[in-house]
Order: sequence, then C-alpha cells, then structure tokens
Amino acid sequence: TPRVFSGIQPSGNLHLGNYLGALKRFVDWQAKDMETIYCMVDLHAITVWQDPKDLQKSTRELCAGFIAAGLDPEKSILINQSQVPEHAQLAWIFNCVARMGWMQRMTQWKDKAGKNQQNASLGLFAYPALMAADILVYHATHVPVGEDQKQHLELTRDIAIKFNHDYGVDFFPETQPVIEGAATRVMSLRDGSKKMSKSDASDASRINMTDDADTIAKKIRKAKTDPDGLPSEAKGLEERPEARNLVNIYAALMEHSVDQVLADVGGKQFSEFKPMLAELAVEKLAPISTEMSRLMDDHTEIDRILTRGSQRARAITAPILRQTYDIVGMVPPV
Ligand code: TYM
Repeated sequence: TPRVFSGIQPSGNLHLGNYLGALKRFVDWQAKDMETIYCMVDLHAITVWQDPKDLQKSTRELCAGFIAAGLDPEKSILINQSQVPEHAQLAWIFNCVARMGWMQRMTQWKDKAGKNQQNASLGLFAYPALMAADILVYHATHVPVGEDQKQHLELTRDIAIKFNHDYGVDFFPETQPVIEGAATRVMSLRDGSKKMSKSDASDASRINMTDDADTIAKKIRKAKTDPDGLPSEAKGLEERPEARNLVNIYAALMEHSVDQVLADVGGKQFSEFKPMLAELAVEKLAPISTEMSRLMDDHTEIDRILTRGSQRARAITAPILRQTYDIVGMVPPV
C-alpha cells in the first residue's frame, strides 16, 4: 500500500521555500486520502549546533506551522523524530550498509561541512543514513520534497537496494521522490543563483512564514529583478533567474501553471507585478502565521499532538524494526 512520508528540520524559521516546496505539498497528499506521516527531524537538526531552548521552541513552532498550513493531526501522523526511537535504531543498521564513498559524494555534506571537514560532526556525515531510516522504517513509498533533497533520496534507494541484496531479501521498497509543482526550488530574493534558505545571512533573501504583511511587501518590492517586463510564455524566462523565481512563486501560491500566469500578466512591468505578488503572498501567508502564533500561545496542545502521533507511528515502526533485526541476525528477547 502506498504511504507518504516527509520531514522538515526544526532549525530556525520556516520560509517560503519550505512552504511551497514541501509543506504545501504535504497538505495536497493528505487530501488524497493516503496514509501520510510528517516529521520534525530534531535529530537531524543537531548535526549542526542548536541551542537547546531554541531547538525546543523551533520544534513546537514547526508543528504549529504544519497544523496552521492545513495538516490535520487526525488525518496525518505528526511526529518529532526523537520520540520515535526506531528512526535512530534503523539508522545505525544503515550506517553499516552505506559506504563512506556514498556519503562523501553528497553535495549537502560538501556545502555544510565546508573546507574544514575534519571539524564537522560525525552526525552531519551520516545524515543521509538517518534520512533513509526515517523513510524506510515506515516502508514509505512516496516522499514529497524540494529539488535539493533529490540526491538524498537517490541514496535512500541505494541503501534499500544494498540492504535487500546483502541479506538476500525483498524487504525495503524503492521509494519514489515526489518533486512537483512550480516551486520545487525557490531562489533567494537577492540572488537568483542561490536557493532560498534559512542559513542565508541576509533576512531580505527569504520570506519567513512569520513575517508580517509589511515585511513581506517590502522584501518583494526590494527583490532583485532585471529591467525587462514579463514575457507571455515560459520560454521568455530562460536566462532570467530572478524573474523566473518571482513568477514561479506567484504560480505556486495561485496554484496555477507558469503558462497560465504568464497568459495573465505577460507584458506587465515588475513595478506592476511586484505589488500583485506581495498582495497574493500576504493573502496566502497571513492566515497561516496568525494561526501559528495562536497555537504557540499554549504549547500543551502541540505537545499532546506530538505524543499521540508518536504512539501511532510506533505501531508501524516497531514491527518493521523487529523484522529488520531478525533479517540482520539479532537475537530477539523472549
Ligand atoms: P529541510 O529542513 O532543509 O527542508 C524541508 C523541505 O523544504 C524543501 N526546501 C525547499 N523547497 C523549495 N525551495 C527551497 N528554497 C527550499 N528549501 C528547502 C526541502 O527540499 C525539504 O523538502 N533532509 C531534509 C529533512 C528530512 C527529510 C527526511 C525529508 C529528514 N528526513 C525524510 C524527507 C524524508 C531537510 O534538511 O529538509
């Protein structure tokens, strides 16, 4: 049976890239009446330093963001990774399946570790094995993510194939990366060659889900563009990364295709298009941030949702981990 799993790191603010590339898609999958499991990956977050108080707050805030964006804790299973111990337990097995060379090729590892790899945490290196475990401990088949996670999902497949091959079983399924929509790679508002990210030093480069209407409008007004107007076909956005980015964002927020959008706005100047985009962004994002801060007023409800989610999750993960241990040859308790 098809099963959907995905996760987001509770490190810093949720931004528009996370929302359009991932969270909004999570809500779409929930609407398809499939089994959906969504995770705040706190164990992944600590692969780089996190202040404990901030991590706690970010995890609850991320959960508030999930719910505010439309995830229903009755329909979807919402968990934080550390409350479902089978993720970390399966990750250890996968650490012993994955090869050093595979990890060394990961572009996220190279980017995040930078020049001083000797000083990066061992967890940062092993990051993709834990990610594979997140997915495969549910035998999940569909994983909605943004473009930047594609390589990690290919590695997840490699781990599943090698495990099945080494132990002569057909146990872990091949998972399908689901990278779709107009905004699978939202770019920085200041530089069309960099993706929008929480680690960018410039806050003006991204729209945070918690930004107020004025801030959103200002960031869009100041967004980098070229001097030309909008083309009437997607072809006209080639070689124009900043222009393309703003159109993609508009299309994703509108839930229209880029061609549909350009049929409407082709010929306009950015001085006219930017206020339209700002208005649309505020209209779509303001209700989410209002609901997020309401949910954050009292986090006991959020904590209960995560506790309940973990219980439901463990009903799936515990048997799969036990079967994995049996395959590997771990003596079971009697
Ligand atoms: P993270 O926390 O960096 O990002 C969460 C999700 O947001 C997407 N995303 C973007 N999409 C479009 N444009 C952008 N600029 C942009 N920035 C981020 C990411 O692709 C992602 O889907 N390793 C993962 C978390 C993870 C996970 C998993 C995901 C851990 N285990 C298992 C799926 C399945 C990460 O760091 O995402």
